[in-house]
Amino acid sequence: MRVLLAGFGVVGRSLAEIVIEHGDYLRKLNGLNIRFTAIVDSGGSVVDERGLNLNEVLNVKKNSGSVSFHPQFGRKNASVLELLDELEVDILIDATPTNLVDGEPSYTYIKKALTLGVNVVTVNKGPLAYALPALKELASYKGVLLRFSGTVGGGMPVIDFAKQCAKGDRVVKIEGVLNGTSNYIISRMEDGLEFEDSLREAQEKGYAERDPSLDIKGYDTAAKLVILANEVLGMAVTIKDVSIKGIENLTLKDVQEVLKQRKTYRLIGKVDGGLKVEPTLVDLADPLAVRYAMNAVSFTTSLSGRHTISGKGAGGRETAIAIIRDLIEIKKKLGEA
Ligand SMILES: NC(=O)c1ccc[n+]([C@@H]2O[C@H](COP(=O)([O-])OP(=O)(O)OC[C@H]3O[C@@H](n4cnc5c(N)ncnc54)[C@H](OP(=O)(O)O)[C@@H]3O)[C@@H](O)[C@H]2O)c1
Repeated sequence: MRVLLAGFGVVGRSLAEIVIEHGDYLRKLNGLNIRFTAIVDSGGSVVDERGLNLNEVLNVKKNSGSVSFHPQFGRKNASVLELLDELEVDILIDATPTNLVDGEPSYTYIKKALTLGVNVVTVNKGPLAYALPALKELASYKGVLLRFSGTVGGGMPVIDFAKQCAKGDRVVKIEGVLNGTSNYIISRMEDGLEFEDSLREAQEKGYAERDPSLDIKGYDTAAKLVILANEVLGMAVTIKDVSIKGIENLTLKDVQEVLKQRKTYRLIGKVDGGLKVEPTLVDLADPLAVRYAMNAVSFTTSLSGRHTISGKGAGGRETAIAIIRDLIEIKKKLGEA
């Protein structure tokens, strides 16, 4: 499986480390033979069609800041688009930064890959929140696969879980705590900390997006909700269809006051007819009242009721595992074709 990896940050590097550590196991157990043909970061790329030595590339990135400084195979300013034109690859893995305004530059990368008949695995919510219905249609028209299980819930198999809940049944409602940073902030406010101090702690712990307003103002939750609504409920919606209210106006007093009634606020994304993100009161005993950086999502089905999955919603290695899961799924489907 020839791979072009776009983005060599926390997730991209975790993926390389996992392939180094578990490559033999993945080959033997899942028949997954991943050959990294090219890796791109913001400084350029490194290309070897025979398959890159990942240890070498990780060392170059660590010591020089960009993969393009690789002494033998590094290239300055060679972009994902140029490499898609030049190289024969089976899969584009997109681990570039999220842009929730227009999904770029990832949206153009994914569109180009699909148009060229290249399968895509992305962990980037931006292009999906912006245009998932159109991208799915393009993939289907071109007969290629577009997978994105790492975009919701990190390593938690949220989308697979939902599809399992829906077998022989029908999901009628989705509600979830989908943003670890907001949840961490509210949880620390329950502990007595002010909003700003809680946010600072979340940033220090590495939970927050580069731009934390995406977390706090509810956009990250909305993007994930859009992905679930498309994939689980078969809706054709984008982030413009979501009514969004964040946690920025919650005060310490609000949070402390409701605790006395054994209730708490959670930033809930909900699809129940319309799509909505807002701080919502829930009982402390509710499965969505998870604490700190945890995520939880409930799927209510018409026959079997409410099912909830919870776990750590982000993290480099967790998200890289979701990419591996998607690659295994693609390998299986290509084998069946
Ligand atoms: N980290 C998580 O826990 C997590 C969980 C779920 C989903 N995600 C998503 O996964 C994606 C990657 O996250 P991350 O934490 O790995 O981010 P990150 O550490 O900021 O890494 C982003 C990488 O993309 C590279 N890049 C930037 N612009 C590029 C371009 N135009 N072409 C090619 N590469 C480019 C950056 O290059 P430089 O190295 O040169 O800066 C960097 O290597 C994001 O969309 C994020 O929302 C992350």
